[in-house]
Amino acid sequence: MIIILMGPPGAGKGTQGDLLVKKWPTFCKVSTGDLLRDQIKKETEVGLKVKDVIAGGNLVDDDLLFEVLKNFLKEQGDKKILLDGFPRTVNQAKLLDTLNNQYKVAKVVNLSIDTRVLVDRLSGRRICSQCGAIFHVSNFIMNQEQETCPACLSGKLVQRPDDFPDRIKNRLEVYENQTRPVIEYYKQRGICSEVDAMGEKDQVFKRLIETL
Ligand code: AP5
Repeated sequence: MIIILMGPPGAGKGTQGDLLVKKWPTFCKVSTGDLLRDQIKKETEVGLKVKDVIAGGNLVDDDLLFEVLKNFLKEQGDKKILLDGFPRTVNQAKLLDTLNNQYKVAKVVNLSIDTRVLVDRLSGRRICSQCGAIFHVSNFIMNQEQETCPACLSGKLVQRPDDFPDRIKNRLEVYENQTRPVIEYYKQRGICSEVDAMGEKDQVFKRLIETL
């Protein structure tokens, strides 16, 4: 069984996905962005291929990413899956349908949000290079830049290369052109709901749980 979290870059898919698996530990969160960044970190063949594509805010090739995803899913046994960041094209949605025997898409939630909020969230995002925890610079005391992760107390907080302003603009355009049609694909099946992603994380989470 699969639940898909959709929404534009910065809508809070990663943040809400982490909260969800904490509440429902029978789910395993799979972020295709994280899978790809892991390949880049390990300097694998896939990582070398996708590094510049991701930094530029463009989409990775459908078939290449689907192979990476399938390999990861094989390792998860019969866990329920929370997908963050996949599918992002209608073709990817069709590829996912080929796994229907083992992984049926039960529900899709689209996190909807104003574009001006997205830009602020993305440009202020910092990620722990060690544990992957997600923060925003506005959470830090007196708005000072914090370098060490407050969650694991050892990793360094870094900015993703695709969070620089010109890349954010491109990602939002890519989302509108290539990913928004996927929402319609699932709406036609009657399994897609909208959740308002504006406001505090806990408020959004409450809406998400109510919807699911
Ligand atoms: P990916 O990592 O999936 O990036 P994304 O979809 O652009 O989404 P983000 O991770 O930027 O945002 P998010 O919605 O998870 O928000 P977050 O919770 O972090 O993909 C990266 C790249 O990989 C793609 O561009 C592409 O190149 C490639 N890729 C991945 N999947 C692919 C696919 N299927 N096909 C092809 N290529 C693929 O929150 C953002 C910030 O806001 C944080 O700082 C957070 O603390 C803050 N925040 C969150 N919620 C709130 C709130 N309620 N109030 C205040 N602040 C909040």
